[in-house]
Amino acid sequence: MTETVHYDREGQIAILTVDNPPVNALGHALRVELLAAIERFEADDAEIAVLVGAGRLFLGGADVSEFGKPPKDPWLPELIGHLERVAKPVVAAIHGAALGGGLEVALGCHYRVALAGAKLGFPEVSLGILPGAGGTQRAPRVVGTDAALELITSGAPVDATRAQVMGLVDRMVEGDDPRLAGIAYAGELLEQGAVARPVADMPAPAAPGRDWSDWNVELEARHPGQIAQIKAAEAVRAACEMSFEDGLAEERRLFDLLVDTPQREALVHAFFLERQVSKLPELKGVEPRAVEAVGVVGGGTMGSGIATAAVLAGLPVTLLEQSEEAADKARLTIEKNLDGAVKRGKLTEEKRGRIDLTTTTDFEALSEADVVVEAVFESMDVKRQVFDQLDHVMKDGAVLATNTSYLDVGEIAGGTRRRADVIGMHFFSPAHVMKLLEVVVPDTTAPEVTATAFALGKRMGKIAVRAGVCDGFIGNRILSHYRAAATEMVLQGASPYRIDAALEAFGFAMGPYKVADLAGLDIGYMTRERKGLQTGEVNPDWDDRLYEMGRLGRKTGRGYYIYDEDSPKGRPDEEVTRLIEEVRAERGVEPREFTDTDIVERYLTAMVNEAARVVGEGIAKRPLDVDAVLLFGYGFPRWRGGPMTYADHVGLATLRDRVARYAEDNPDFWQAAPLLVELADSEKQFKDLN
Ligand code: 3HC
Ligand code: NAI
Repeated sequence: MTETVHYDREGQIAILTVDNPPVNALGHALRVELLAAIERFEADDAEIAVLVGAGRLFLGGADVSEFGKPPKDPWLPELIGHLERVAKPVVAAIHGAALGGGLEVALGCHYRVALAGAKLGFPEVSLGILPGAGGTQRAPRVVGTDAALELITSGAPVDATRAQVMGLVDRMVEGDDPRLAGIAYAGELLEQGAVARPVADMPAPAAPGRDWSDWNVELEARHPGQIAQIKAAEAVRAACEMSFEDGLAEERRLFDLLVDTPQREALVHAFFLERQVSKLPELKGVEPRAVEAVGVVGGGTMGSGIATAAVLAGLPVTLLEQSEEAADKARLTIEKNLDGAVKRGKLTEEKRGRIDLTTTTDFEALSEADVVVEAVFESMDVKRQVFDQLDHVMKDGAVLATNTSYLDVGEIAGGTRRRADVIGMHFFSPAHVMKLLEVVVPDTTAPEVTATAFALGKRMGKIAVRAGVCDGFIGNRILSHYRAAATEMVLQGASPYRIDAALEAFGFAMGPYKVADLAGLDIGYMTRERKGLQTGEVNPDWDDRLYEMGRLGRKTGRGYYIYDEDSPKGRPDEEVTRLIEEVRAERGVEPREFTDTDIVERYLTAMVNEAARVVGEGIAKRPLDVDAVLLFGYGFPRWRGGPMTYADHVGLATLRDRVARYAEDNPDFWQAAPLLVELADSEKQFKDLN
């Protein structure tokens, strides 16, 4: 077994180095060795100890993969309790990050020094839990109740500078060697005759500046539907109102309660799936090609966003447009995006000054790019012309990617003499903000080209998901199906406003009609025009009439909602309601009532059913790929884990039976996906296929 804690001496100072790559997660083996190392220090004649992390960070927290499994001794809370009661002083020397249980260990030490740039925080709520190793009791004693509440309920880390101002660390130092920083600080402490200083012995913190009930109201508003934040605040309250020991017990009770929730399960699933999506068996051992320069063709909505994302990743970018005017306009948009990034602290002024962006109207200028992403109009003819030109100018080995939303990437590749180098890289709008990237892989694409698209996606900060070729790939294909279910509900009696409200209450950031107003009604209209109405599809003629009335959504001030000074976020429109009533009357539909539950169930059943088809047909390789697409591109609430996780939670037999029931209204549209039926009949779950 490899040693996860090294023990050595520097004069009177003992150094305990945690070495458990990649992130020094506090799994069972490490806890055992850390406890042994602490006991060794107690028995040793060293006068002070420094706890430090090897590698890129101090401690990444509890081992997330152990949640939900039977706990093994020593537990982290016990380990920290023991550490805190060591009679000689212990210093935490923090670099990189001290997160969750890692920060709790630091708070169990008697002194803390952090290197500049280190991040300290409690991300537990983003995993559906709360700091469960004394963090809710010790942090308020050290930084005060208000600051602790903010730190613990937001899940957001603070940097070392802020940590020092808050009193979370005693000292912040420049440099890149935490061992040296720890030894220097420990030496000073020795000279001063410093003694062990357990946080547990500090007085209970005062109540926060605001009432507890105000905190609850705010947390419910900030994190609708989620429980971890509320419970975390409850645990902090225990620190103010109970003894240290009773507070710890209360923290443990609340922690255990959260560990057993579907929200915790969903959030941990989301954490791992962010990393799992890029691990494809087909890419094992496949080296991506080097990417040192990127080209973008088309500088409209998408092209300028993609170019922004690439320059933000530090890549030199050449963007080609049809005319000088269009190229200038694209440059202006990118400059504005970059200014925004500086304002939001995503880009430093210094890096802003060094960005490497060229705009051009000459294809030859793209010849040195390693990857070119095409984002011109959504037309096969236009795209094939562009790819023909790229085929002529691009150097050998360059990757030719298309950002098409729906078109057949294989057909685009087929027009070139280098089909193996052509791939889809489907970004989402706004491309410099949205996390999702669908990598669309036709059969003809070379594995290292796929690997290159994934590597580039990662470098651009995206979560890349592999998709096969079909109309709409994973996301847009599923979207058009659940949107059709919404249209059907409207025709049968639900209002689009009620549908939006019900889905927002479920946890979507925005309901489908608000999303459509944002994207523009022309997008849906043009898609329908291109495809025609397929068998089994719901006739969306009322949507089309809105489009024909010039109601294109936010950009025209009217779509499903009215946008004006009184209602910048949109308000319902009587005219839309009347139009829907007219359409129902024309079709002889007697409107019926849909409750919020009816709406959510139908909408999600449609989503899951189409997702099951997408997995069944191999368009998505695994259910987790679908979850990732919906979570990172379509506003599905993270704390529900994605549609496949939701489906497993509801039960696949229930969903199969719902489809059968809805089919009584519209048998063409509601046909259960073979995979859904197969899994439901054999009492399996989607997660069994991950
Ligand atoms: N437990 C288990 N595995 C973890 C982990 C953790 N806490 N943190 C990271 N990992 C794994 C990742 O899954 C990944 O595995 P892989 O290589 O097999 O895909 C590997 O470590 C590297 O992780 P990243 O790719 O995320 O590495 P980065 O350098 O980009 O980021 C990090 C490092 C900032 C530490 C980031 O991994 C992170 O945010 N981790 C989670 C931190 C966290 O949430 N800690 C709190 C845990 S809950 C807790 O402590 C409860 C306590 O209160 C009782
Ligand atoms: P857009 O209309 O905003 O931009 C297209 C740009 O391409 C225009 O600026 C145009 O001048 C330029 N162009 C057209 N032909 C060209 C040529 N031959 N050479 C160089 N430039 C040329 O369109 P948008 O929305 O940016 O879409 C581009 C592509 O991205 C489409 O395939 C679309 O389906 C896809 N897409 C769009 C999303 C969106 O939300 N708008 C989301 C994801 C993909």
